[in-house]
Amino acid sequence: MPRTSREVRLATPPAGLPTAQDFTVVEVAVPEPGPGELLVRNLGFQVFGAAVTTALGQDVAGFPALHPGGVPVGPAVGEVVTGDGDVRPGDLVSHGAGWREFAAVPASRCAPLGDALPDPLLHLSHGWTAYAALTRVAPVRPGDAVFVSNAAGAIGSLAGQIARLLGAGRVVGSAGSREKARRLVAELGYDAVVLRDSPQSWGEQLAAAAPDGLDVVVDLVGGEQLRAAAEAARPHARIALTGALAAQYAPVDRRMRAPVELDLVQLITKSVRLEAFRADDHPDVLPEWNERFAGWLHAGEIDFPHTRVGGIDRAPQALQDVLAGLHVGSVLVAL
Ligand SMILES: NC(=O)c1ccc[n+]([C@@H]2O[C@H](COP(=O)([O-])OP(=O)(O)OC[C@H]3O[C@@H](n4cnc5c(N)ncnc54)[C@H](OP(=O)(O)O)[C@@H]3O)[C@@H](O)[C@H]2O)c1
Repeated sequence: MPRTSREVRLATPPAGLPTAQDFTVVEVAVPEPGPGELLVRNLGFQVFGAAVTTALGQDVAGFPALHPGGVPVGPAVGEVVTGDGDVRPGDLVSHGAGWREFAAVPASRCAPLGDALPDPLLHLSHGWTAYAALTRVAPVRPGDAVFVSNAAGAIGSLAGQIARLLGAGRVVGSAGSREKARRLVAELGYDAVVLRDSPQSWGEQLAAAAPDGLDVVVDLVGGEQLRAAAEAARPHARIALTGALAAQYAPVDRRMRAPVELDLVQLITKSVRLEAFRADDHPDVLPEWNERFAGWLHAGEIDFPHTRVGGIDRAPQALQDVLAGLHVGSVLVAL
């Protein structure tokens, strides 16, 4: 058992989007778990860029702010070193204290992983957010036309495949480059991809990609993409307001506000339903997702697109790369 552990800390407040240089990796004593806490040796954590930028934003209600000296929050999986109650040393758990090698975490905030998935790091997929959107918030029905914004990101790269597996008829995504668009169509269940740098408007692109309109939208961006998707909605469409990358990944503005102008006359007359949600509003989803994800993986029906980065020293650069859009899917730091 080592005496020291390493963790990623914010060194300086970023001027715009954070870069690797804004963070430092420091050596600290392995934490002593307090009453009701577990000591967990992390096996890996997700480089969850949107959680970091949101924590760096101004006054985001219900979100712990990240100040210099602080460690970002983010999903992690690990092995229990010191147990408490029913949790025993060696048990695998997921929790929110990523960006460090060892964490002391309240037992109440640790979820046992079970053995449904063949590799603990698969629990960092975030597919359950896409699954919650497509089954609880904006349920897909057979033959539906589905649009997913930020289709090549951690959630979007699974959302297209899940929509297809749930019976969608046409699946359209948005992405930042032609190479990502190619992969989304060739490998990840999308029929068509609309592009951030296209000379055509979002509305024109969506009209070409989904000529009969949209039944389901999983919106991860907000802004002009959401406005265009809402305009393309068919009667009784469902829109899952899932993320706000337009604010979270805005290059300069760190206010974390994502206003958007929607035409309520159109939405009301078409009985379109918009619902904002957090995946953990639906606690029944996670075990259901784990079962279905395991089955789809086993059957070779789903791919978990991700990049594994080895070692905590590489985590700050991995964050910069996520924000720069260099990856398709999730980015995980394996420890
Ligand atoms: N509701 C919930 O329960 C829940 C749970 C988890 C996450 N979320 C939210 O879901 C959203 C997506 O998270 P994620 O982890 O899937 O994203 P992600 O993987 O971090 O997305 C990375 C991608 O975002 C794109 N991007 C970069 N700058 C952008 C900008 N200014 N505007 C639009 N896109 C930009 C880039 O792709 P391209 O180059 O292809 O554009 C980049 O590759 C976030 O808003 C997050 O907070 C919600």
